[in-house]
Amino acid sequence: MEHNAQQAQKEDIMAKNTQRSGYSTSRRSLLLKGLAVGGAGALGAGLLTNGVPAFAKERSAGVTQGDVAILRFLAAIEILETDLWRQYNELGGIPDSEVPGGTASAPYVNALQQLDGDMSQYIHDNTEDEISHFTFINAFLASIGADPVNLDHFRNIPSSKATGARQIGRLTNLMELTVDTSWWTRYRSRNKNPDFGDTFAQAIPGLSKGRFPAIPRNDGDFAPADHIQAIANTAGFHFGFIEQGGSSLYPTLAQGVTNLEVLRVLLSIGPVETAHFQTWHDKAGNAKILTDPTNGLVFPDLNNPPFGGEDFQTNLIMPEPTIFLSRDLPAVSIIRPTRQGVGGTGGAVATVKAWTADGLFRGQPDQRFLAVLSELAVQADEARRGF
Ligand SMILES: [Fe+2]
Ligand SMILES: [Fe+2]
Repeated sequence: MEHNAQQAQKEDIMAKNTQRSGYSTSRRSLLLKGLAVGGAGALGAGLLTNGVPAFAKERSAGVTQGDVAILRFLAAIEILETDLWRQYNELGGIPDSEVPGGTASAPYVNALQQLDGDMSQYIHDNTEDEISHFTFINAFLASIGADPVNLDHFRNIPSSKATGARQIGRLTNLMELTVDTSWWTRYRSRNKNPDFGDTFAQAIPGLSKGRFPAIPRNDGDFAPADHIQAIANTAGFHFGFIEQGGSSLYPTLAQGVTNLEVLRVLLSIGPVETAHFQTWHDKAGNAKILTDPTNGLVFPDLNNPPFGGEDFQTNLIMPEPTIFLSRDLPAVSIIRPTRQGVGGTGGAVATVKAWTADGLFRGQPDQRFLAVLSELAVQADEARRGF
């Protein structure tokens, strides 16, 4: 009975999510299921029904459909970040009461520590931050009478079999990654910006082709030494990839927010993604120069030819000034990209595309997963101030 009840609940959640992905019905009416929509897109106080806390009435005043769409997409992204960071913490971090689960893996932790002696602590803290991000955004959604996001139905991807990992279903796969490392050169460029259509060289060209683990897949991955080190190096560059994505996503979506308190949520969480990114940008530069003897993956010397110079030098971790808004304006040190809207390079759809290309969802058997995530992304990118 207990099991059946849980199953029924799961199916209800799935049905709700799947329903939202239907393209045949108005996206916005589905998004706000249970909430009527007031003039100019604002949620009128009288629209909140029984069961909604009294403070929701006040908090939801002036919150638009677009605001809710942005918050729901961010909740989904933070749930996915939490899922991947928990896997890193179980094997390479510090499992404890703040971030429970797993027992850590000494060979993997040792390899990570080649990048920084405090790597495990940073992994733990990044994980705790992500847990707090999705928990807060979902609670905030509930506080304004909107549906929180739940992706539990899609926890289908198997765990690593390495000693230290929990054996539970996952939303993300860290064992077949194709890591785009162009964020490295993008933040070093003085005359290019992805918002102008520019593209950027890979720091680790090998990682952007093929499929590589960023966590040990099983105990067989603990040796030889340069193999487990390559896995830790891959994690180091993947950390930067994930967190620079959040650094662009929040300021991009913030441009579509109407309600000041919702804007405050985005402006207060987004820069923490950047704090993470800056840390990981620094650590990735310490990745050991090597060739993985099992698959030929090369981590080159980024400080010497054919690399080296301003675009690759490992201590140039602060963003360089570059073009922004117009080539007629002076170069400025900024987060990049931040152009808003469907088709924008830093928005929600772009994030889903980048994470899919990264291989994060490889092995997800349920095709509705990407449909649900993509639909949430389109709605977030379509949000405009005032609507
Ligand atoms: Fe986050
Ligand atoms: Fe993050």
